[in-house]
Amino acid sequence: MAERVIPLVDQRIAALAAKVPAHAAAPTGLLTDTRGRPLRDLRISVTDRCNFRCNYCMPKEVFDKDYAYLPHNALLSFEEITRLARLFMAHGVRKIRLTGGEPLLRKNVEELVAQLAQLRTIDGTPPDLTLTTNGSLLARKARALREAGLSRVTVSLDGLDDAVFRRMNDVDFPVEDVLAGIDAARAAGLSNIKVNMVVKRGTNDHEILPMARHFRGTGITLRFIEYMDVGATNGWRMDEVLPSAELLARLRAELPLVPLAAASPGETAARWGYADASGRHDPALGEVGLISSVTHAFCGDCNRARLSTEGRLYLCLFANQGYDLRSLLRTGATDDAIASAIAPIWQGRTDRYSEMRSSLPADASRGARRVEMSYIGG
Ligand code: GTP
Ligand code: 5AD
Ligand code: SF4
Ligand code: SF4
Repeated sequence: MAERVIPLVDQRIAALAAKVPAHAAAPTGLLTDTRGRPLRDLRISVTDRCNFRCNYCMPKEVFDKDYAYLPHNALLSFEEITRLARLFMAHGVRKIRLTGGEPLLRKNVEELVAQLAQLRTIDGTPPDLTLTTNGSLLARKARALREAGLSRVTVSLDGLDDAVFRRMNDVDFPVEDVLAGIDAARAAGLSNIKVNMVVKRGTNDHEILPMARHFRGTGITLRFIEYMDVGATNGWRMDEVLPSAELLARLRAELPLVPLAAASPGETAARWGYADASGRHDPALGEVGLISSVTHAFCGDCNRARLSTEGRLYLCLFANQGYDLRSLLRTGATDDAIASAIAPIWQGRTDRYSEMRSSLPADASRGARRVEMSYIGG
């Protein structure tokens, strides 16, 4: 029996002060880290709460009624988030993803979307503004989100079989309500909808083909994600990971697929297009994505920064410390001071956890001190 882990309270204290450099670093301009990776993608967690208890993310035994979620005044306000997002965009960020926990649980989140949609990249274009949701509130919220300026949405869905799905979310939530949320997102005009499925061998891997068949030809891109050792609570074991190579072989045995080129640099997913009878990609049938976070690390061009619910900047999904930007915001630092504090943090970045996973000592890969994904955002 695994011992009970009380992970977060200590880890939240592990913040590094974000220092304003004595000689002002340029508050704008593109940044690259120690490995030449640009800063392009900002993922913002807007709440550490979720109404699901997926065992790989927020297991019930840990995230129970006594769990100490962040108090409201610890969360960044919408104005604080938008201000930071603007400063990150001046440093080259083009894509903004709202995450959680479940971002649609944050009250009036569409107002935040509306504020972020007004921002502009260095080139004067709007950000690629998206959101990762479990879909439970999407039927209710899709239209308001679209009207506020959300460009697209990604829905997490781990199976089509109702019993399997209820077991995965562990709160008995019916699959049909998530499917209705996806339909509502489409009807509201959200384009480029993606569905993310975390695959655990022995739990939902028999849902791979039904999921692929269901979304083939719908214009929705299904992506399969290898179950990862994020956080400190999910009891991760390598034998529950279904390697993408094996998953691909299972798919290709039934559905012809051809490799596609990456759509953008630093992309998480390898893209495979459904082929027609002549063996060429048929755009009408669409594509799937394979996210091989465990068996084929993609740190080499990782351009993602993460802003936690309480305003800490994390340089990697597997980091155990974040840089406290909230205290700069709340002690009256100017825009220039905050932006020039961000620059050396990114420039000093060395993180490449997934590349190093296999060579780390076992206790490091068991995540003794890592933050939870629900806190820094998927
Ligand atoms: P698109 O812009 O729609 O392609 O999204 P994305 O793939 O950048 O982001 P998304 O949140 O949909 O990522 C899907 C999943 O990939 C996440 O839920 C994680 O499981 C995994 N993932 C995303 N970013 C990282 C990362 O930086 N490192 C690792 N190891 N896994 C990641
Ligand atoms: N492994 C892989 N992906 C995970 N997510 C959460 N926990 C894990 C994990 N252990 C991702 C899933 C989910 C999103 C909210 O976070 O993609 O859809
Ligand atoms: Fe909630 Fe998503 Fe985590 Fe599941 S994976 S518990 S839906 S945040
Ligand atoms: Fe980026 Fe860290 Fe993920 Fe590697 S493990 S892709 S550096 S977030």
